[in-house]
Amino acid sequence: MARHIDCNQLTFSLYPFAHEMKMYESYYRDGQWDGGAIVNFHEIRLSPAANILNYGQGIFEGMKAYYSQKGHVVMFRPEENARRFEKSAEKLAIPGMTANKFEKAVVDLVKANIDFIPKSDDGRCSLYLRPVCIGIEALLGVRAAKEYLFYIFGSPVGPYFDKVGIVKLIAKDINRASPHGTGDAKAVCNYPVTMRPKKEAIAQGFNDVIYLDPHHNKYIEEAGAANFFALMDDGSLITPPLGTILPGITRESVIRIAREIYQIKVIERDLSVEEVVQKAKECFVTGTAAIITSVSDIGWKGKTHNINKNEYQLANQLYDKLIGIQLQKENDPFNWVRIIS
Ligand SMILES: Cc1ncc(COP(=O)(O)O)c(C=O)c1O
Repeated sequence: MARHIDCNQLTFSLYPFAHEMKMYESYYRDGQWDGGAIVNFHEIRLSPAANILNYGQGIFEGMKAYYSQKGHVVMFRPEENARRFEKSAEKLAIPGMTANKFEKAVVDLVKANIDFIPKSDDGRCSLYLRPVCIGIEALLGVRAAKEYLFYIFGSPVGPYFDKVGIVKLIAKDINRASPHGTGDAKAVCNYPVTMRPKKEAIAQGFNDVIYLDPHHNKYIEEAGAANFFALMDDGSLITPPLGTILPGITRESVIRIAREIYQIKVIERDLSVEEVVQKAKECFVTGTAAIITSVSDIGWKGKTHNINKNEYQLANQLYDKLIGIQLQKENDPFNWVRIIS
């Protein structure tokens, strides 16, 4: 019998009853991917010498399935996750798969877990899907594996940060990715360096960290799992350029909504923390998990700067539009919503 999932109780954490759900798995061996299958959620057996455990050859994605207001199960731009997964794979010498294989696996898994999709009117609860691909060959020397496991699991989730949708961030001169490294890929190796700063940030009363550029340690790159935007005094909306940051699908969607629906001047350029704390009227971060979350304060060089001169108006406006499109409350002018059932 389907378990009742109370949206109000959900946070962004692994569902305690994940073992009752289905997962997808497909193996790459002898130079090809097998057909893949939906199976019961289970633990994975790996050799202690598996590439992923020693050298971190792995990539992942994050995407969501929702119930829309029209009663459909929908996803948001899944083809973009397929495209980014492929790019991440290429960067880490992981064998590619067709976008069709990725998308079919995701859709089949959503259908298999339909009872685990929470219902919410405001988009804060959903079924989060986590596609992962890891090198599983047992080896000792550093090289790309010859065997891989592509799997997807899901979890009903609530808000990433908190239910209020406002966070305090601290800018730290720590770089999560280098210019010719893996910052623009969703590679597992980009995340371990964020563990200590995030732990320290939380101990200091902040929710997350703003990472800075590796050349000057002064320009904002992104937060731990979200892209950064600042509305400046002159009305322009600034976001750091692509290159070393993750090309967020929410980032690109927010840029298009701001430009094409609200005629806001959006500029992708270097943005120093100093400029933000002096001239920004409003800041927010964007991501599949974070959706659009306002930033009330930024810690920088021992001081905490309040950034809310605009009462979060732009973030709220963009949030309502994005969620309105995602939940089919409004027209979908960009054809972003994929109906699953
Ligand atoms: C480092 C990082 N930046 C940005 C994002 C936002 O990307 P998206 O909007 O595609 O979820 C994420 C989340 O996946 C992330 O991990």
